[in-house]
Formats: sequence, C-alpha cells, structure tokens
Amino acid sequence: MLIVSNWKAYVEKKEQGKALFEAAKKLGSKGKHTLVLAPSAPQLALLASGNKSKVAFAAQNISVSTGGASTGEITGSTYKDAGASYAIIGHSERRAMGETNEIVAGKVQHSFAQGLIPIVCVGEKERDADAQYLQELRHQIASIFSPLSPKERLGVVLAYEPVWAIGPNAAGVITKHDLEEMVLYIRKVISDFMPGRANEKTTILYGGSVDASNSNELTVTTGVDGLLVGRASTNVSTYSALLNSLS
Ligand code: PGA
Repeated sequence: MLIVSNWKAYVEKKEQGKALFEAAKKLGSKGKHTLVLAPSAPQLALLASGNKSKVAFAAQNISVSTGGASTGEITGSTYKDAGASYAIIGHSERRAMGETNEIVAGKVQHSFAQGLIPIVCVGEKERDADAQYLQELRHQIASIFSPLSPKERLGVVLAYEPVWAIGPNAAGVITKHDLEEMVLYIRKVISDFMPGRANEKTTILYGGSVDASNSNELTVTTGVDGLLVGRASTNVSTYSALLNSLS
C-alpha cells in the first residue's frame, strides 16, 4: 500500500522531522508498504537531501506559478529539485483558503510537467440525505481528469478525503462499508475518462482521522490502495503504531 504522511504544520522542529524520517526508514525497510513523507518545504529539502532510502517525499502543495516573479511561491520544479517525487494537490485545507477546482486542475498539470506524481485530494464537505454530495465529488474528479492526456490520467493518485472526517474537529471516521461504496463510486466516475478497465489501476487513498485503531479495518476489503494520514503521522509512537497495525 501507499502510505502518505501529511505533516501539515504540525512538525516545526528539525529534530521532530528527523525522528519521524528515521522511524519511516526503519519501518519501511520491511518493504511491505511504500512510505511517503510530506514535510514543510524547508524540512523536505533538509531530509530529502542525499536520501538513499526507499522513503519518498511529497510536497504538501505546489504553486500555481511555474517560476519567475512570484514572491514567496514554491514551484513544483523547486520541490522536484529538492528531492520530492510526489505533490499533494487540492487538500481541503488549501481549498478552504480559496483553491477552486480550476486551480487544482492547473496544479495537477504543472505537477506532471514538473516530474511530480500528483496525489489529488477530493471529498465532500458534508453528507446530505439526497446524496448531492456524490455530484460534488463527481464534479471534483471530472475537473481533474478532463484536461489531462490519456497517459497522465493513468498516473493520478486520488486521495478520497471527506472533509467532515478530517482534523481534530472531525465529525467522525468513515465506516468500512461507506468507504467501500465510495471507492466503487470513484472508480465508476474515473471510468468515464479511461478506456476499458484502466480505472481499476488508479491508486485510491483514504484520508481522514486515520490512526492505529482504524487503519487495518479501513484498508482490508474496502478497495483502497493506501492512506493519507495527518495527525497520527506526526508523532513517532502513533506513526509506528499505525504502520505496525497494517496487515
Ligand atoms: P487527519 O488529516 O488524519 O489529521 O484527519 C488527514 C488529512 O488531512 O490528510
């Protein structure tokens, strides 16, 4: 499975970042799962420099800018040069700051052009009895896939992250049954953009309040190919417990 750690702004000290990286290297050495760390930009540069381990790095976000006169922006190409192989795009915490589906789609294209694999976050804000949220999700996915080439479409990693399940104020975690249904629905939506059964190959992650207590249940038989983990990935003991809980 692909296990992506989104450190958000939780990890501010170099020592904490280094300790988490060491834990990932140790736990990842068994080779069972592909481990990806998404630190802040300065920590990514520090940790990824000279990295020879199997642990890979992701940007938490990339700029809409492709370089030049954009003060304070960090381009995908800068992340790539610093050692990232992936970029998280369209996280709900970025969307909440004004990132539209169009901006997200543009960043996904930059990401491919700059040699990064995009991990694109989609997910409904809330659930309604009329299942309008399924349309919201379809729209997010369609706007990501529509502008891409057939080859790029095959390379998208989708992270299904229902917004109501994310962060310390989450309303709860998704049930195993609901997650299984959502993965089927997402693959059906993707199939509109891919010929034949190619949609079955798309890597789909789940994210939202994942920790050692639910990680195994959420990954066995739900059809997901991995996890995008926030809080539980930012502390060595909760991160190790989570990885050890996976079968
Ligand atoms: P959380 O965050 O695990 O802290 O809920 C998940 C995410 O936002 O990717």
